[in-house]
This record gives sequence, C-alpha cells and structure tokens, in this order.
Amino acid sequence: MVMETAPLSATPPPPPAHVAIIMDGNGRWAKARGLPRTAGHKRGAEAVRRTVEAAREMGISYLTLYAFSSENWKRPAGEVTDLMGLLRLYLRNEVSNLHKNGIRLRVIGDRTRLSADINALIDESEAKTAANTALTLVLALSYGGRQEIVCAARRLAEEVAAGRLSPADIDETAFAARLFTADIPDPDLLIRTSGEQRISNFLLWQAAYAEFVFTEVLWPDFGREHLEEAVCAFHGRERRYGAAPG
Ligand code: IPE
Ligand code: IPE
Ligand code: MG
Repeated sequence: MVMETAPLSATPPPPPAHVAIIMDGNGRWAKARGLPRTAGHKRGAEAVRRTVEAAREMGISYLTLYAFSSENWKRPAGEVTDLMGLLRLYLRNEVSNLHKNGIRLRVIGDRTRLSADINALIDESEAKTAANTALTLVLALSYGGRQEIVCAARRLAEEVAAGRLSPADIDETAFAARLFTADIPDPDLLIRTSGEQRISNFLLWQAAYAEFVFTEVLWPDFGREHLEEAVCAFHGRERRYGAAPG
C-alpha cells in the first residue's frame, strides 16, 4: 500500500485572520474547587494573558475576547464590582506589556455604562497602542450584539432624517460601517469554552460565516494548546459561504 505523505516543504496553512472567543466557565472552575467565583475570574485573567501571547505568536491578526456582556450587568453587584476591578488591573498593568509586544488594543461595547476612570484607562490604552501592527486585541466590554445592531439602525435613521443619507444607500456595507467593528474584519473562527453551545449575544452580525469550535475546557484552564487545537479544527473545515461544495 502506498502511503501518501505531505511533502516536507509543505507550508502550514495560514492561521485564521480573526479569532473570537467567548471566555466562559470561570464560575464553574472556582465552584469545582470550593472557591469564590472571583477566584475563577482572577485565573481567567491569566488565561487571557496566555491566549493573547499565543495568538500573537501564531500570527493571528485579530483576537476578540468577550469579557463582559450587556447582560452581565444583571449579576450580583459584588461580582460586577470584582469584574470591573480586574478589568481596571488589566488595563493598568498589562497595557505596557501589550505595547512592548506590538499589540494594538481596541474596545467594543457600550462604554457609557463603564465608569469614568475605566473609560479614561481605555482611551489612554487605545491611544498608546494605536500604531501597533503585530496583533489587534479587541476587548468586548458591556457588549451586546443586538444592542450594537439597534444602535447602527438608529444612526442610519438619524442620517436619513438629517438628509445626509438616502434609504436606497443602506446596504450591508453601510450597515457594517455603523457597527462598533466598522474597521475590523469578520471573525473566521469563534471559540466558546466551558461546554456551552450558544452565542449569548456575541457578534451576531459579524459571525454570519464564522466557524464555531466548542470546547469543554473551562476558561481559566485555557491556553496555547487549546487555541492550537481550535485552529487545527478550523483548518479541517470547508468554508462554503452558501456556494456548492468545491
Ligand atoms: C465567564 O465565566 C466570565 C464572564 C461571563 C464575565 P462565568 O462567570 O460566566 O462562569 P460560569 O459560566 O458561571 O461558570
Ligand atoms: C457570555 O457568558 C458572556 C461572556 C463570556 C463575557 P455568560 O456566562 O454570561 O453567558 P450565558 O449566561 O451562559 O449565556
Ligand atoms: Mg458563564
């Protein structure tokens, strides 16, 4: 039998340009250890560090992390305070490291609900890292896909009412240009950890043709090998965009 082997010179397929992750399972990670949920969130922040570094080294251009949803405001006040505290710490302590590694930071979401000091830290971090090109790290904070779509629709309506736009000019490009992600390509690969298989209001418009990978791994345990596994699964998919199989 003749075994087919790939030629040694075969170049590996390029990584997906944009990977988006629903970082889920911090609470269950903590619960399994008899720890408070905050302990899971803290360990989750370490997984963020590992994953960002791995994404940069793998040559991924955009990494979007779902850190806090519009609906997460419904959690107990103490947990929201803890999560905002961790976000503050991350922005204060990690941005110089991101900058050193050529990473650009972007935040998407409803910033009006974030505190003034966090908004100031975001402005500072985005400005400092704006010219970096190794990787764009997009943090989705106070983010909801439906809210984003409604907001885009409202902006289009306002422009039409003001006479700056004709309804006939509203197409997919015009709509996408009014989303938080206007200058960011759509995600190619969307990963959700913790075994849940739902989208939870994440990138509803942008994920139209994303490949989904679900893993049982809880977010605090996530790292380079899991990202590599997901990318490997992605490479095994045939993306059709509605066309006939090739
Ligand atoms: C993800 O972990 C972090 C956020 C949603 C902010 P969870 O806090 O949702 O953890 P589980 O799903 O309860 O395990
Ligand atoms: C989605 O996780 C939001 C983030 C990871 C930030 P949730 O834990 O909030 O989602 P549900 O409630 O299980 O759908
Ligand atoms: Mg959860």
